[in-house]
Amino acid sequence: MLVDFRPGLRLTGKNAVDITASVTPVLEAVAGTGGDLTGVRVACDWIQYRDNFRDVVDVRPVMASPDPAGSPGAAPPPAGVPPYAVEVAVDVRRSGDIADLKELAAARLRDGSVGRVFLEDWCPESASCIWRFNALYWSALALWEKAVGRGYEQALPGGESDARNQAAARDLITGLFADWDLLSATGALPAELYVAELGVGNGNQARVFLDEFRDLDRAQGRGYYARLHYFMCDYSQHVLDLARETVAGHAAHVSSIPLDAQRPLTALGFLRGRVWLLYISNVYDNLPTDEVAQLGGRTYLVQTRAYLPQAAAAELAAGVSADPAELPALVRQLLRLGPALLADAAPAHIGGTEPAVRFWRQVWSAIRLEERYVPLTGLDLYPVAPAVSGEALRPLLESGADIRVQVSNGAVASFVDSIALLRPLGKLVCHDLFATDPQDYRSGFRGPGKYDGSVVNWVNGILLAHVGRRIGFEVRYEPFRHRSGGHIITMTAQATD
Ligand SMILES: C[S@@+](CC[C@H](N)C(=O)[O-])C[C@H]1O[C@@H](n2cnc3c(N)ncnc32)[C@H](O)[C@@H]1O
Repeated sequence: MLVDFRPGLRLTGKNAVDITASVTPVLEAVAGTGGDLTGVRVACDWIQYRDNFRDVVDVRPVMASPDPAGSPGAAPPPAGVPPYAVEVAVDVRRSGDIADLKELAAARLRDGSVGRVFLEDWCPESASCIWRFNALYWSALALWEKAVGRGYEQALPGGESDARNQAAARDLITGLFADWDLLSATGALPAELYVAELGVGNGNQARVFLDEFRDLDRAQGRGYYARLHYFMCDYSQHVLDLARETVAGHAAHVSSIPLDAQRPLTALGFLRGRVWLLYISNVYDNLPTDEVAQLGGRTYLVQTRAYLPQAAAAELAAGVSADPAELPALVRQLLRLGPALLADAAPAHIGGTEPAVRFWRQVWSAIRLEERYVPLTGLDLYPVAPAVSGEALRPLLESGADIRVQVSNGAVASFVDSIALLRPLGKLVCHDLFATDPQDYRSGFRGPGKYDGSVVNWVNGILLAHVGRRIGFEVRYEPFRHRSGGHIITMTAQATD
């Protein structure tokens, strides 16, 4: 048996994790199964997100073959004896408080899936319905915020977005002006100056940028503001409308573009090679991702399936006069139609928009992800993003001991697509939660977690930098300069020549 205790730093200090209370009972339950323990992996995490997709103890099969059904023509399983057969995952933030942790772990090991109501079949995490919940949250944000009585920013780290930090915007604008002054002196500065922001939220980032830009320009008398055009891009029309109101004072300089941040070129193709600044904050961590792992020298894709635990499903079903077995269909209707129309489609269960929002929030709160590890037959056959093969993950996966990482498929796709918009001197600036060292994955939990109705995963900065280098971009990371103590990192990407 191998015990991988990732949050090592939590073993010391004032509120140190008590291993005897939070891990030993799980090991006793594993030993109590009487089975062969050589293939057991116990993975201990400190899940910092109070709302998340994990149970206190989860049991994850480690599949020997990529095709459990063994269908003819399927890729052959890797040669040799698989190192692990099962992973037992423990959230040590909560496990020490469970009265009978050993019995809970034993029950999970006997058959943890009993009574669960599944909302989907096994799939890579990026294809899970949790991402449709995420999109629903941004499209029906007003209904959610009204129901919870607070804005989305309050769920972000620090309670507000660093995107509205004036000093950060000023730094960025000063850099732009310096580049433009040089070009302007030789008459080489184009007439129109384009900036694009992906994932605009309530528009505060855009407003701070535009206010600072106008004020600095006025003070310096360069006339850049008159030439500026700012493209606010998002996939939620509601968010775009909200942002539009926030920047009403700059209306003549702003366009709103509905687009998927994973494929910005589809809508912004006309700006190819013309953008000076691509500005992104707290969006990459909100884009779909898979997870892959290197365990005992083999590479696995984490497959997931969303479910409602038995007790939560019973309570939810009772609240909407339904049988638990009817919940998956009701959830599918919610995701397809949104809460405002759900009552019309399911009048026997939902009495209006308010009950529909309540149902939505309760389902989201209850949703968990069951996981299993499925062998990858070759990294080259696993697509990270269009035109980016899984081979790009090899340096990270082979960087040492067992490791499990986010692939950040959506962020990589967005990055590769959007940098084509940049001018040769243009840059992409992104404030977000980044893992920038392989050790980040071996020492802490990087997602997924829930921020109100949305999903958060730390972004694989190591992979982004590697992908950037391969296509001629230098990617740099530094802690967000204008607030101390947070986890936000600023990524800057610029062409190397
Ligand atoms: C956490 S908010 C960040 C808002 C703002 N940038 C900030 O830092 O305060 C995430 C934003 O990304 C948008 N978003 C998420 N996924 C997207 C996608 N696939 N395409 C476009 N926008 C997306 C959401 O609608 C939302 O406006």
